[in-house]
Amino acid sequence: MRIWILSDIHVDFIENRKWLDQLSDFEYQDDLLILAGDVTHNLDLFKSTLISLRKKFKMLFFVPGNHDLWLRDDLFSDSLEKFHHIQQFCKSNDIKTSPELVSNNLVNILIVPLFTWYHLPHQTDSLYLTKPGEGSYEEMWNDSYFVKWPSESFKPVEYFLNLNKQQFRSGNADLVITFSHFLARQENMFSNDGRLDREKMKKFDRNPKFNFSMIAGSKLIDEQLRIMGSKIHVYGHQHINHDRIINGVRYVAHCLGYPAERLRGMIEGIEQGLKQIWP
Ligand SMILES: [Fe+2]
Ligand SMILES: [Fe+2]
Repeated sequence: MRIWILSDIHVDFIENRKWLDQLSDFEYQDDLLILAGDVTHNLDLFKSTLISLRKKFKMLFFVPGNHDLWLRDDLFSDSLEKFHHIQQFCKSNDIKTSPELVSNNLVNILIVPLFTWYHLPHQTDSLYLTKPGEGSYEEMWNDSYFVKWPSESFKPVEYFLNLNKQQFRSGNADLVITFSHFLARQENMFSNDGRLDREKMKKFDRNPKFNFSMIAGSKLIDEQLRIMGSKIHVYGHQHINHDRIINGVRYVAHCLGYPAERLRGMIEGIEQGLKQIWP
């Protein structure tokens, strides 16, 4: 049994659907895939994509990303209702969205999906860092238009982390692997040596006014995964791939991203296919 990771498959792009279709139907039948969110907002396409991916692996683990909770039609009254619909769909199709202990070669691995969201710049646990020339995220960030919560006072990060707490059970695990769509630490946004690579950022920065750190994630995600004893944390959302150990935890991102981002060379390592994180 091998554990593979992937995120941000954005199947609205035909190139991405082709990329996924090319994954073998036979090679991964003893293996497990962790898919860390951002499939598509289109519910029919979302469902058919997850069902066909499910068949390629022994087990499929999933958490929704922001794009999956977008409301582009009137099927749901808010994004939380869509979230619960997705949960139910996953349950009915044997796609794991709650912790599962898997055993292989006498090693017990606990895989823990973490539902998450991001804190905004004015909120205490935001990953926000100032950027010269930045504008406000509201106009530039599509979630402002397509994500709707049940009320003004609804706190998505706290709500989702509480769900994670409720469904967590520590077992006899030799290794705990957690995964979330959003980022857990500010360092996750930077290159592997821990420094902000200015040249690289400039090359990939198509919208200098947009500051990703405003909507990146939350420090509370890191707090939760460490309480759970995670040694490997998988994440997505940024469309920049990293693999780095910080204070005893390995943080790994392996996004497919947008076709244009791959053409620009922004998505490192994706030309080799899925990324194996265990053994
Ligand atoms: Fe994405
Ligand atoms: Fe995302």
